[in-house]
Amino acid sequence: MIPFVDVVQQYTLYRKEFKKAFEDVCSSGMFVLGPEVQRFEKRFCAYLGVKEAVGVASGTDALRLACQALGIGPGDEVLVPANTFIATALSVYDLGSIPVPVDVNPESFLMDLTDASSRLTGRTKAILPVHLYGRSMDMDAVTAFSRKHNLILIEDACQAHGAMWEGRRVGSFGAVGCFSFYPGKNLGAFGDGGMIVTEDHSVAEKLRLLRNYGSIKKYIHEFPGTNSRLDSLQAAILNIKIKFLDEWNKKRFYAARRYTEKLKNINGLHLPVLDFDNISRHVFHLFVLTCERRDELLDYLTKQDIGCGVHYPVPIHLHRAFTSLGYKKGSCPVAEQLSEKIISLPMFPEITDKQIDTVAGAVRRFYD
Ligand SMILES: Cc1ncc(COP(=O)(O)O)c(C=O)c1O
Repeated sequence: MIPFVDVVQQYTLYRKEFKKAFEDVCSSGMFVLGPEVQRFEKRFCAYLGVKEAVGVASGTDALRLACQALGIGPGDEVLVPANTFIATALSVYDLGSIPVPVDVNPESFLMDLTDASSRLTGRTKAILPVHLYGRSMDMDAVTAFSRKHNLILIEDACQAHGAMWEGRRVGSFGAVGCFSFYPGKNLGAFGDGGMIVTEDHSVAEKLRLLRNYGSIKKYIHEFPGTNSRLDSLQAAILNIKIKFLDEWNKKRFYAARRYTEKLKNINGLHLPVLDFDNISRHVFHLFVLTCERRDELLDYLTKQDIGCGVHYPVPIHLHRAFTSLGYKKGSCPVAEQLSEKIISLPMFPEITDKQIDTVAGAVRRFYD
């Protein structure tokens, strides 16, 4: 059995440290926010090279509260890629704003800015690009686009902890950057968690109120906020794990390179670009390729106990959940084609050469 992700190995490797962190938090009685969260927020700031970080309950909340803090509200349109996890669009939709799906580039699978231009209206208020699979968007182009059209830039970096564009970590370019610490992420907690980063002190202050019922001091509420706080146990786990993030990302890259070598010259497969240079550093949250006869391949690998996935089988505009937005098949043709051709192979830092070779061997046999 080769799992798609293995979230237990990191626990096993550093069990002693995790147990001590658990013990320390439980005996301190500080379960919500508190010193562990403050320490993690500081560490995350230092890691990204930003001034402010605000821990929240999930990546979805990070996006939603970030939009709210930036004044995005009912009727405002926000450009989102058609190929992403639904949470990107839900966070906008939850506020009564309108997610506007933008088609993706057929090579990078990321938001296509030419298509984005064609979707601008007088109500477009923000652009929400996603560094999907761990790959940075072209942040020179995105920044220029958002400036030219006077749009707020919100980065969804939920799959891209540590990815870089021109030596700068993603999440640090926009008005805000949003992260998820869902267990399977490159930096994953032992439950849900999220973070918003920003250079703007007043936005950070607003977010600190929003995540805590809009409370300026106990039982005094400035505006209607919510309960979305990063809890201390998760922060304590993340304070340990963040020390290993760069090392784990290197291992992911090594695994991607090995897959690429082992899978080359197979007709019908199209492999991802291995960005690892001074411009872009991919952190391979997922190893996604396009292929012919995708569903048959998925079935074949599953029968051999190889965990695979599809990220994502339905583009944003075709989800039943978004029927009210009024899109039809054909609105984002590249994303629609990709959804029928993409497959994600097992990827996690501890994956062994033997496991990679087994997966690649099975794929090759399928196409032989
Ligand atoms: C691109 C993207 N955006 C947003 C989210 C939402 O994060 P969470 O699951 O922590 O709410 C995820 C994670 O699942 C994601 O992959």
